[in-house]
Amino acid sequence: MTTQRKAYRASILHSIADPKDVGLEHSYQYFEDGLLVVEHGHIIDVGPATEVLKRQPRGLHVTQYKDKLITSGFIDTHIHYPQTGMIASYGEQLLDWLENYTFPEERRFKNPVYAHKVAKLFLDELASNGTTTALVFGTVHKESVDVFFQEAERRNVRMIAGKVLMDRNAPDYLRDTPESGYADSKALIEKWHKRGRLLYAVTPRFAPTSTPEQLATVGKLLEEYPDVYMHTHLSENKKEIEWVLELFPERNSYLDVYDHYGLLHKRSVFAHGIHLSDCECQRLTDTESAIAFCPTSNLFLGSGLFRLPKMEQHGVRVGMGTDVGAGTSFSILQTMSEAYKIMQLQQEKLHPLKSLFLATLGGARALHLDDQIGNLNVGKEADFVVLDLHATQLMRFRMNQATTLEEKLFVLMSLGDDRTVCETYIYGEKAYDSRGGIRDKKIAS
Ligand code: GUN
Ligand code: ZN
Repeated sequence: MTTQRKAYRASILHSIADPKDVGLEHSYQYFEDGLLVVEHGHIIDVGPATEVLKRQPRGLHVTQYKDKLITSGFIDTHIHYPQTGMIASYGEQLLDWLENYTFPEERRFKNPVYAHKVAKLFLDELASNGTTTALVFGTVHKESVDVFFQEAERRNVRMIAGKVLMDRNAPDYLRDTPESGYADSKALIEKWHKRGRLLYAVTPRFAPTSTPEQLATVGKLLEEYPDVYMHTHLSENKKEIEWVLELFPERNSYLDVYDHYGLLHKRSVFAHGIHLSDCECQRLTDTESAIAFCPTSNLFLGSGLFRLPKMEQHGVRVGMGTDVGAGTSFSILQTMSEAYKIMQLQQEKLHPLKSLFLATLGGARALHLDDQIGNLNVGKEADFVVLDLHATQLMRFRMNQATTLEEKLFVLMSLGDDRTVCETYIYGEKAYDSRGGIRDKKIAS
């Protein structure tokens, strides 16, 4: 834990509100020469450097960055750590992709040694891409989640994860039962939920791979533990939707299946939601559920075009997800770039300040964690990134022709990726430095 007060001087930009509520102009704060002050893992002061320095004691330790931008850590509201090893698998859409690539790779996570190796690599990847919080799928094996949390705890990073529940329409080697899935989830909740910065998500894979009996156990767990998350997939692919309606003929929509079993609440996060009706969107809003928008995945699997304006009209909370390994990048910057293109294909614009909101504070709101993370306000946990807007020759050349902050931000989101991330701080401690790789000795060991 950081006990010593430390300060970081650079340009500082962070999102403070949804542009849809307050207008673009009032949705962010920018300090050209800013100072961020951190103590005990929290932000204790932020603002123009000259003003903040007057409020701080003499002799304050200040790290000065030249030509860098500090912003709050990115939030990934949907990702699968066990799919790290099969990212970029060729040629299939959702259901065949699951069968041909995903399930065989997830089988390997029965072995905790392999699972631990991938968990480390995955958490390294998040840090080097500036992602400081993620909502993460494990596999059906409880060990996969145990080792993931162990590794996340060592790094003191705010992660939400859960064991996959899957008791039908999957290979034998990846199936649990309603009883074992319930018992394993319960044991993991008791062990990990709210331990340090970690939180648990009950994680049915999606409606087709759970029996009604299993979905009922999810509802039961949420009743028994009202502050855990519920994390699943929803309405991603047309064939998937047809299949759900065949499997649950008595339900009137895909979302209604989850609703029937009591799975919609304020900590429910549904990945995708591409093909939702107005009624389904309204029901998400009424239950305060959230959607994870996963553009690189939606394009890669040919799933469809997410309708962000429709979600906004209904007031649905939306966060950004990479959905690795259907998603093709760990980088939230790259993810924003693809989100922009998805809007373009629908004759819509995605303003870079809206993107900044979605990638940070919007994600925190989708997870109901905006009192703790999502921007650099005083009192928040000190998860932040130091970005180099001139990281590549092309970025430097292009940035020098950009005149406004908004233009620079748009170039950053169009051309930026992990090369842009210089340093990542987790709870006030440097967790990644592009010049020295992962710095924490405990992690390197
Ligand atoms: N639907 C059910 N499982 C999955 C998965 O692993 N990835 C994606 N993108 N969709 C799913
Ligand atoms: Zn997914």
